[in-house]
Amino acid sequence: MTQDEMKKAAGWAALDYVQKDTIVGVGTGSTVNHFIDALATMKNQIIGAVSSSEASTEKLLAYGIEVFDLNSVDQLSIYVDGADEINGQNHMIKGGGAALTREKIVAAVAEKFICIVDNTKQVDVLGEFPLPVEVIPMARSYVARELVKQGGDPVYREGVVTDNGNVILDVHSMKIINPLEMERDINAIAGVVTNGLFAARGADHVVIGTPEGALKR
Ligand code: A5P
Repeated sequence: MTQDEMKKAAGWAALDYVQKDTIVGVGTGSTVNHFIDALATMKNQIIGAVSSSEASTEKLLAYGIEVFDLNSVDQLSIYVDGADEINGQNHMIKGGGAALTREKIVAAVAEKFICIVDNTKQVDVLGEFPLPVEVIPMARSYVARELVKQGGDPVYREGVVTDNGNVILDVHSMKIINPLEMERDINAIAGVVTNGLFAARGADHVVIGTPEGALKR
């Protein structure tokens, strides 16, 4: 089974968490694209979606699924999104697709975070995947210097502007032993919008695509 087939298995299995007559929080990425394909099969049974990126919004609208502004929604039962790495405590690194800030906001509103991944994303210790940090453009060099002080090796993701008009620093060489602390410390640097650690708000359920099909935990 290819990695994409495992992503597809996870994306379709997440349909089990979707309740009728609700608005569904939808994340971003190639695994979520499979979830959106699955969600389209029950588009007449849901009210619509809230999306974490322009890319997902476009795909949802193409299927005829209504996309609501988060400000007009006061309750979301689930948020379904992928991850770049996930550990055994359901802490994640996200933001490989540069949508981390909107993802964190929609995840904060949702009652349950359903993480969908293929089995290559499971790790014991987070940090092999470079940690994305969204930064206000004028603060880029300052934030990079502060990240070096925290033990990282930040690399400017050239040519990428987020949906919010900001830039991304990818922080290499981080062995993230205490994700909660690191999430808080990086977010405290002036000029950081948010970082891609999802530890304070981790996943509630994980759907893992494997060669044997989707496993839930
Ligand atoms: C988007 O910014 C990310 O957080 C994605 O959720 C993450 O990169 C997973 O992407 P794939 O599903 O494409 O592997």
